[in-house]
Amino acid sequence: MMMSYEDYKALAEGYLKHIISVPDDDGAGLAESMKYSLLAGGKRIRPVLALAFCEALGGDIYAALPAACALELIHTYSLIHDDLPCMDDDVLRRGKPTNHVVYGECTATLAGDALQSLAFETMLSADLPVERLVRCIKILAKAAGYQGMCRGQFLDMAGEGCALTAEQLTEINNCKTGALLSAACAIGAAAAGAGDTKIEAASRFGSLLGLAFQIRDDVLDVISTDTELGKTVGSDAEEMKNTYMSLLGLDGCTAEIDTLTASAISILEEHFPRTEFLADLARSLAKRSN
Ligand code: IPE
Ligand code: IPE
Ligand code: MG
Ligand code: MG
Ligand code: MG
Repeated sequence: MMMSYEDYKALAEGYLKHIISVPDDDGAGLAESMKYSLLAGGKRIRPVLALAFCEALGGDIYAALPAACALELIHTYSLIHDDLPCMDDDVLRRGKPTNHVVYGECTATLAGDALQSLAFETMLSADLPVERLVRCIKILAKAAGYQGMCRGQFLDMAGEGCALTAEQLTEINNCKTGALLSAACAIGAAAAGAGDTKIEAASRFGSLLGLAFQIRDDVLDVISTDTELGKTVGSDAEEMKNTYMSLLGLDGCTAEIDTLTASAISILEEHFPRTEFLADLARSLAKRSN
């Protein structure tokens, strides 16, 4: 039976609850603050992508589940740190006060750090053949670090208030958002035992999807509302961020998202057997409202 987005999401949600069910005996609140952000909601796109790629390539999605959820642990850590006063200084995330608003900056910083370690611990618990597991770990480690998400976040912060070119902005978005979405697709393929060509194609699909995803994120920061988005709109202008909205305007962004989505879908058609779910997902993300 074909799985739906909600099916994949429920699987991820259930496993995330299981991972973070550790009691916080010492009362110091670190585990509580990790749980607060991890279980605050979120679309769970990264685990869904990993599971969908795994299934499309005939893999065992239950064996891949810890690897898929590791992506969400890294993502949630990146959001906690992204919201800190020293970064985007935001007070609303996933419809709730941000982690540092509730637990303080020190605990929020450590909650992010600890979620990052937990991501690798969780991935290592996956019941996958060891060579597939090693591949998954390599992909995640590289995507999260100084050549991936952290690099993108660094360049994003360094670029505040500067007039960047479209190329520079694309480089930032490729790293800060594209890297993890690309890793999600590649990890799903690697967990299914795919070879280099398929993993590479999954990765390119995720990268294009990631760029479109960040452009839509920039659009929503202008056209949405706090309630609909679950985060404070207008944050980018407030922080003098470079965004596609400031560079291209709404029509330009919409056209760019459509072009990227079409390119992503053409990679699917060329390389993967069952692509309907993933193509529909790409199309719906292009028009998402939160
Ligand atoms: C928000 O990511 C940050 C970006 C990389 C644009 P999501 O839009 O996936 O956030 P959640 O997980 O659904 O809250
Ligand atoms: C952040 O991009 C991407 C991350 C790596 C967290 P944004 O700063 O635009 O994400 P939001 O809008 O706060 O979710
Ligand atoms: Mg940011
Ligand atoms: Mg932000
Ligand atoms: Mg944003």
